[in-house]
Amino acid sequence: MSYLPKPHGGKLIQAYDPAFDVSNILKEIVIDNIALSDLELIGVGLFSPLTGFLGQADYESVVRNMRLKDNTIWSIPVTLPVSSEVATTLKVGEQYRLTFENETYGVITVSDWYEPDLTIEAREVYKTEELSHPGVKRLFERGSVYVAGDVTLIKKPEKGVFGDVWLEPKDTRTLFENNGWKTIVGFQTRNPIHRAHEYIQKAALETVDGLFVNPLVGETKSDDIPADVRLKSYRVLLENYYPTERVQLGVYPAAMRYAGPREAIFHAIARKNFGCTHFIVGRDHAGVGNYYGTYDAQLIFSNFTEEELGIKPLFFEHSFYCTKCEGMASDKTCPHGKEDRVILSGTKVREMLRSGQLPPSTFSRKEVVEVLIDGMREKTTV
Ligand code: ADX
Repeated sequence: MSYLPKPHGGKLIQAYDPAFDVSNILKEIVIDNIALSDLELIGVGLFSPLTGFLGQADYESVVRNMRLKDNTIWSIPVTLPVSSEVATTLKVGEQYRLTFENETYGVITVSDWYEPDLTIEAREVYKTEELSHPGVKRLFERGSVYVAGDVTLIKKPEKGVFGDVWLEPKDTRTLFENNGWKTIVGFQTRNPIHRAHEYIQKAALETVDGLFVNPLVGETKSDDIPADVRLKSYRVLLENYYPTERVQLGVYPAAMRYAGPREAIFHAIARKNFGCTHFIVGRDHAGVGNYYGTYDAQLIFSNFTEEELGIKPLFFEHSFYCTKCEGMASDKTCPHGKEDRVILSGTKVREMLRSGQLPPSTFSRKEVVEVLIDGMREKTTV
């Protein structure tokens, strides 16, 4: 018997078929790297129960109610945008190759296509229509018609340096079971792991069997630290500070949406599909700028019962190093004032790293900082 949660919707979708014969499918839809990542993640079941890109009824239901039309919880539309010129050439019921840089990665059977109201999508999903929000900007840039239909993944995108740390949900589920872990906490990040992250991960690990460190390595905004540099920093951190028998590193090759609360639900569902029983949500999860309140991404979980969501969120307060406590703490556990707390914004840290300045070890482990500075230096000299 398995202790792991059932995949979202009940069944792990497996829509990968490298033997699929595409020789008779002459028409193609050219996709961007976000759609390529979505195609792969649908194919390997990370987005279970999705079997393809959302049709209009599902899309409208997700945008307005955070549910698919069959009522399954789903908070972020997974859509295939094309231009209106491309849309006029499409026929419902026909198959099209999904191509990226002249390679066929999948096939879609078009079930419908529709013009979404992007302003409503921005308002409901991202809670803003401002183009300075990176998710909203991308939404308006990507195409004004959404093509829907079930997909088959035919070729898996190359993972390069991430090859050995890309575990599909079927793999993580087997691994967690083989490790004898009954409870596993998933951790999402798009950043290097700093002391505050480490603190909340280890606080969570005190109460569960395993920790799945699961950094997002898909598309991020250009000023986030590149994923390959981050990967080196995760490896060195885990080697030096984590108990290997209770921690697993695996990447999450999805695009970052920066949709704050809505994305926290989406992130939790993907981790449930990986087999996690718990999911960490700290301060301003998946947020950007000042678009969301510090704890909005925690509050949104109260819309759903844990039974229905099928994964338990673990909420953490804003954490930091306190010089008076002489250790990591949070608003919940530390009685001291702001002047005693080591708090650096992401922007500030990136500036420091780029100029070769070392953030203090109370903020980030020195091994991590060294890797980041080297990595950023290499990027700026190429
Ligand atoms: S995210 O965009 O990938 O969510 P980030 O990498 O900053 O952002 O955070 C990863 C996880 O750690 C999120 O759950 C976030 O809420 C949490 N987190 C980040 N910094 C802190 C902090 N100082 N205190 C508590 N939680 C934090």
